[in-house]
Amino acid sequence: MGRTIYYTATSLDGFLATEDHSLDWLLSRTAGSGGPLDYETFIADVGALCMGANTYRWMYRELHDDGGAATQPWPYTQPCVVFTHRELPTWPGADVQFTADPVEAVHARLAARVGDGVIWVVGGGDLAGQFLDHGLLDEVVVNIAPVTLGSGRPLLPRRVDLRCRETVPSGEFVAARYEVVR
Ligand SMILES: NC(=O)c1ccc[n+]([C@@H]2O[C@H](COP(=O)([O-])OP(=O)(O)OC[C@H]3O[C@@H](n4cnc5c(N)ncnc54)[C@H](OP(=O)(O)O)[C@@H]3O)[C@@H](O)[C@H]2O)c1
Repeated sequence: MGRTIYYTATSLDGFLATEDHSLDWLLSRTAGSGGPLDYETFIADVGALCMGANTYRWMYRELHDDGGAATQPWPYTQPCVVFTHRELPTWPGADVQFTADPVEAVHARLAARVGDGVIWVVGGGDLAGQFLDHGLLDEVVVNIAPVTLGSGRPLLPRRVDLRCRETVPSGEFVAARYEVVR
């Protein structure tokens, strides 16, 4: 049985990005490597990922120059589903599908594809919340940066009860793994 995990970094006060989608507060800080909640360890088990439109747009902007030419390859080998109602720029050679299908239907398709692997919900927070609403999220893993933002794009704009399973210091961050209480 596979697992669906919302794995992300967050500010201490629960924001994924500033209101204008900046991650400078995150990218200027260094995580540790090699721990049990380390990204490299996590991604090795990921069979598919999904993200919202603004997260995809952020990645697209980061990995293209002002003229629209790719400066780096798409970073994932696994299939990726992007939830959107818009027409977004495509990425030649990348296994990326755009959808406005209900999250339950997309989850069922991905679960059949990953088998025992992990479906990674990359973000944003409301998309992770939609998986929660349908009882489809198993774990939340947060890498907490030593900074507060005061406002921004929310980590998880829902009431959700969690059980802490693991905490690990990781460079400037603290990583914590929570199980969703059903
Ligand atoms: N700190 C981190 O590690 C981390 C991790 C992930 C993301 N981020 C950042 O956090 C920010 C997240 O942005 P965000 O809060 O706006 O969330 P988002 O999920 O990236 O984007 C939200 C958009 O996704 C689309 N969407 C969501 N659910 C949908 C559904 N069920 N069906 C169809 N479309 C759906 C909608 O766009 P449409 O207008 O197309 O309908 C919605 O406006 C980004 O800046 C991202 O770069 C940071």
